[in-house]
Amino acid sequence: MHQSHAHQASRLQLNGQGQLKHFLSTEGLSRELLTEILDRAESFLDDQGGIRNVPLLAGRTVMNLFFEPSTRTRTTFEVAAKRLSADVLNIDISKSSTSKGETLRDMLWNLEAMTADVFVVRHGLSGAPHFIASQVTPQIAVINAGDGRHAHPTQAMLDMLTIRRHAGAFENLTVAIIGDIRHSRVARSEIHALQTLGAKEIRVIGPRTLLPKDFEQLGVQVFEDMTAGLAGVNVAIALRIQNERMESALLPGSSEFYGLFGLTRERLKVASPNVLVMHPGPINRGVEIESEVADGPQSLILKQVNYGIAVRMAVLAMAVEGQMQENRQ
Ligand code: CP
Repeated sequence: MHQSHAHQASRLQLNGQGQLKHFLSTEGLSRELLTEILDRAESFLDDQGGIRNVPLLAGRTVMNLFFEPSTRTRTTFEVAAKRLSADVLNIDISKSSTSKGETLRDMLWNLEAMTADVFVVRHGLSGAPHFIASQVTPQIAVINAGDGRHAHPTQAMLDMLTIRRHAGAFENLTVAIIGDIRHSRVARSEIHALQTLGAKEIRVIGPRTLLPKDFEQLGVQVFEDMTAGLAGVNVAIALRIQNERMESALLPGSSEFYGLFGLTRERLKVASPNVLVMHPGPINRGVEIESEVADGPQSLILKQVNYGIAVRMAVLAMAVEGQMQENRQ
């Protein structure tokens, strides 16, 4: 981990007591804090697999600012905020006054004047949520819902909750992340979280063109071959091919990719017999993953979506509490 990045990230995210006040990145957060997010999320799950209604944010306003498309993240943030009894506003960026030339900063000031308590931000530019967190008035919590290829911390934490609930202690687990690592904010946030939570081994598997050069420095094992990379793994996480972020032709084509790196039943035969399969979605069947694997008994893909509500409830509640604590000083 790059120490100065980690230090800057945690300085902006934490209040004077070391509590979360924004959630921008998993990088630089302690094992205790990541575990607290998971434990808090567990507290919102009931024994029947449902999500509790807990009115911790009654009277608060959560604003979803999504500058990029989203199905799972935006919707589960909305459900999470409603389960906490917050008011939720989904700002339609394409119809907002930024399309008339208003700057992002002016838009934020106007939304603040409407008594926002939380901004949930997805943006195509890496660092946009950090910028917003540095600009907003101190009472407002900013949650990163995915920025460029940099970070997607709530996705990483819902993946950690899925792994902890279904695969067990991180210390015993070898986890492989497969596919378009180069453009993946999910992979970066997962790697930081898995390392902090003590995973036994983290692997990335993909074609050389989709593997960032610096990943070995992050302490992960890099594989360009599925048979070698999947051997003995406990958890296999397939990623979406991010065509929208490819600045040039880095892949020969979808069918060639599937032929070499698609997650199929046949390829999973070398993994641990109880291997669990995950994917952050949206999935491309027959590109990253075989339908029978995505829908099969080892797949946790829809559980991930469900746990996303509990994790987002945890992060919303913790960030608002962290802001309240900070502003009480
Ligand atoms: N996993 C994920 O971020 O999905 P959405 O783009 O649908 O939010």
